[in-house]
Amino acid sequence: MAAPHACLTFITDRLVLRPLVYADLDRVSELFAVPTVARELGLDARTLMAAKDRLRRCEAHWDRYGYGPSGLVERSTGVFVGLAGLVRNEERDELGIEFSITPDRRGRGYATEALRAWIAWAASRRLADHLVTTVPEHHTAMPQTLERLGFVADPDPVLDGAAERGRVRWCLDLSLVGS
Ligand SMILES: CC(C)(COP(=O)(O)OP(=O)(O)OC[C@H]1O[C@@H](n2cnc3c(N)ncnc32)[C@H](O)[C@@H]1OP(=O)(O)O)[C@@H](O)C(=O)NCCC(=O)NCCS
Repeated sequence: MAAPHACLTFITDRLVLRPLVYADLDRVSELFAVPTVARELGLDARTLMAAKDRLRRCEAHWDRYGYGPSGLVERSTGVFVGLAGLVRNEERDELGIEFSITPDRRGRGYATEALRAWIAWAASRRLADHLVTTVPEHHTAMPQTLERLGFVADPDPVLDGAAERGRVRWCLDLSLVGS
């Protein structure tokens, strides 16, 4: 059954951002099967299981909150080029942002373009004070992307045990967006 809120779609210069759904299983499995992507996202090696689990949680998230991770579709080709979107963490009372661009579409500014759309939306809805994300230490491209968007690395993060070991936490003050 379609999620009641599954209509939140953004159209940017080069991308369509539409809800990520279980029907994206083939595309997401392919993305998660790339070893660097699995490491970046901190995924279990059993890719298909990870993709199924992620997509089930994704649909439940859209149902519950009316927002969630989007699948990114390249407007000029219709090709699936990654995912990006907001994820609520009830335990930590935080709003996270997650994203991954398929390796063959990196270096085109797609992460920045997709994340900007979500950040502007979150700020306009006053969904939280901050957005957070954790990324692997020593990732060469991520700091530039996050800094460009206004994120700052948390110098003294409270990390979430094993799940976040070896990762750096970045925060964006949503009150500064658009100011
Ligand atoms: C890091 C990552 C986000 C980069 O994706 P991307 O789409 O290439 O990132 P950006 O949007 O920052 O664009 C990168 C480059 O494209 C360039 N670019 C090329 N054409 C462009 C255009 N038309 N517009 C804007 N930028 C363009 C930019 O100059 C930028 O290069 P620079 O950083 O050297 O200046 C991607 O590798 C990724 O998905 N990593 C994994 C993410 C992750 O770890 N997720 C886990 C936490 S949720």
